[in-house]
Amino acid sequence: MSISVTSQFPIFKKYKKLVYLDSANSSQKPISVINAIDNFYRSKYSNIGRGVYTLAANATEDYESTRSTLKEFLKAYNGDIIFTKNATESLNLVAKCFGENFLNSGDEILLSELEHHSNYVPWHFLRKKKIMIKFIPVNKDGNLDITNIKSLITNKTKIISLTHISNVTGKKTPLKKIIEVAKSKNIPVCIDGTQAVAHTAVNIKELDCDFYAFSGHKMYAATGVGCLFMKDKWFEKFNPFLGGGGMIQDVDIKNITFANGVSKFEAGTMPAAEVISLKFAIDFLKTTKIKNIEKHENELISYAISKFNKMKNIIFVGKPDKSSSLFSFNIKGIHAHDVSTVFDQDSIAVRAGHHCCQILHKKFNIASSLRVSVGVYNVKQDIDALCESILKCKKLFKIQ
Ligand SMILES: Cc1ncc(COP(=O)(O)O)c(C=O)c1O
Repeated sequence: MSISVTSQFPIFKKYKKLVYLDSANSSQKPISVINAIDNFYRSKYSNIGRGVYTLAANATEDYESTRSTLKEFLKAYNGDIIFTKNATESLNLVAKCFGENFLNSGDEILLSELEHHSNYVPWHFLRKKKIMIKFIPVNKDGNLDITNIKSLITNKTKIISLTHISNVTGKKTPLKKIIEVAKSKNIPVCIDGTQAVAHTAVNIKELDCDFYAFSGHKMYAATGVGCLFMKDKWFEKFNPFLGGGGMIQDVDIKNITFANGVSKFEAGTMPAAEVISLKFAIDFLKTTKIKNIEKHENELISYAISKFNKMKNIIFVGKPDKSSSLFSFNIKGIHAHDVSTVFDQDSIAVRAGHHCCQILHKKFNIASSLRVSVGVYNVKQDIDALCESILKCKKLFKIQ
């Protein structure tokens, strides 16, 4: 990736030594996104979907055009995209609305051992309805073992919800095969695409999933925006998730009729500036080209893995994947948080913890790990600096 891409991110001008390797947590923001927010509040601000005056109509148009841009970017032609607060809220929406009317005692939900808590806890809530949750297991390499997928999906399975890319191992889920089996049994599929949309080309129509959830802040947009693609048929089938202004057609003291389409699921004042920032983030991704981004990030991860493989006492979480934008590891004998503190002294930002994936960490018998995740702005020197800091850390803790 050229220097001109990194130079579009003001944070690296302010902190010249910053080595930011935490994009899976949240990405830094390009100047176009920052300017879009500034410009909206300075000269375009109004609430959206309410007033009919020019300022409000224009703001609403900007908000709605973000939805169209997003649909085109993800080839989400067979449904629509609802804006939420984050991926977590998007996944809660699916679990709550599906659970309410489409799940009964004894029904099964299929998840995987790779899931982020956002794609487990909302389904766990449904256990009070006596619903069983099954998990596709992870093998020692951190790959999903789908050899028994046909027997895991039974005639009691009512929905399958899986991550597109693991936020701990960086591996892609073999969605095609799983969705094929699901389709043959008419089972809806929900995908948590939070770690995918900024790193690989996503084609929702081709995936043919029912739901696809993600967050704007991990794809170079502002915080406060989540997205949920939902196939057309679910808009009518689902009851609203939240009640309030904007999601109704008519209200009286006895009855309420709800709005149609996306409005039914966007209650209250929406984060207009943040949503609009997402349009600029997508423009940035389109200009930089997702295939260039993927190639660049894969090269960096591949470079990091080969350097790590030459160091002693590095324990990866699963077998790291060169075709990825992230991986996780530990240094034998040093707590991940201590390592991360040493990194910080060298201005290196790497997340330490369980990354909201305790099921996976427990499977590997560890409490925490360090996650290296790259974005469009990273360069090989960032990986070199990280490796230097690992050596320093080992020296400090007297580990070889
Ligand atoms: C795979 C995955 N799913 C869901 C989430 C939740 O995203 P958010 O905190 O933006 O709701 C994350 C965040 O790290 C994630 O990595």
